[in-house]
Amino acid sequence: MHPSDRIFVTGSTGMVGSAIVRALQMQGFGNIVCPSSSELDLTDTIQVERFFDEHRPQLVFHGAGKVGGIYANQQYPVDYLADNLEIYTNVIKAAFRVKARKLLFIGSSCVYPNSAPQPIPEAALLTGPFEPALEFFGTAKLAGIKLCQAYRRQHGFDAICVMPSSLYGPGDYFDLERAHVLPALLRRFHEAKLGEKQSLAIWGSGEPRREFLHVDDFAKAAVFLMRYYSDEQVINVGYGEDIQILELARLIRSVVGFEGEIELDRTRPDGVRQKLLDITRARELGWAPRIPLREGLESTYRWMLENPETMRS
Ligand SMILES: NC(=O)c1ccc[n+]([C@@H]2O[C@H](COP(=O)([O-])OP(=O)(O)OC[C@H]3O[C@@H](n4cnc5c(N)ncnc54)[C@H](OP(=O)(O)O)[C@@H]3O)[C@@H](O)[C@H]2O)c1
Repeated sequence: MHPSDRIFVTGSTGMVGSAIVRALQMQGFGNIVCPSSSELDLTDTIQVERFFDEHRPQLVFHGAGKVGGIYANQQYPVDYLADNLEIYTNVIKAAFRVKARKLLFIGSSCVYPNSAPQPIPEAALLTGPFEPALEFFGTAKLAGIKLCQAYRRQHGFDAICVMPSSLYGPGDYFDLERAHVLPALLRRFHEAKLGEKQSLAIWGSGEPRREFLHVDDFAKAAVFLMRYYSDEQVINVGYGEDIQILELARLIRSVVGFEGEIELDRTRPDGVRQKLLDITRARELGWAPRIPLREGLESTYRWMLENPETMRS
């Protein structure tokens, strides 16, 4: 990578894309194009082709797409399948057509089978069915990964696929319809503190274990892998440690300063018991996460308070 490289970051108004733009700028890359979806609709093949013809990016970070949880997947299966298929395909094909040097596609750990060994190695991909509640989103993601692999095999195009664990940090969503578990807990504990509640109930037994990586660590990994990774196999990027949901809730209670009790709402489902990525390969290449969970939670909580609009639906 060279500081003058023309770089296209898709999804740059989102949490991950904006973190990648920040990481690139911090590392001295100044030639970045990053239109919002209102400026460039990536589902529109003609718009995408024109954009690539005009800008001819040399490097592409491709994380744009419809992102949502189980509820949204059930409600809007067409958006998660058809729109994402278009967004992934249009960009990958156009990048190859204009002879971009390299493309990094952002996958998702949700396409690993629920039955995968823990920590999950990259080789677990396609060894079993993935979470049925995410089947539309997951099918599109898998197709994006396979398209990158197909371009590499058939045309030698340097397209790589990175598999992040759950990410959190500035730019996250704190509205309860959309938020993932970590931002949802930050918000709920914050509101319980303001409301001087005696207790706060978290879903399930609190026993499942999850992994959370700060998005700025992920963004640095993405830039690092753009420089140093070139292979057909996907590569995992995570924090390398998981935490029990009850432990996470205790940590967030302490960060927020809520003094009430934590209750367990055992009528709610737990989901899979554990989800931890094996990040040995990324570590062996020389990348490691830097932001400890507590520190990341503190800065994310501050960011949420400074950006109250992110709590609205
Ligand atoms: N967040 C996580 O924990 C996590 C974990 C694993 C993988 N990932 C992956 O990381 C990527 C980014 O996730 P995120 O959390 O940053 O999501 P996000 O905040 O919702 O950002 C999604 C981005 O995609 C853009 N986009 C959506 N539809 C578009 C369209 N038709 N044309 C152009 N742009 C469009 C959005 O643009 P507008 O805002 O302008 O609409 C936004 O910038 C996704 O591929 C996701 O699967 C995320």
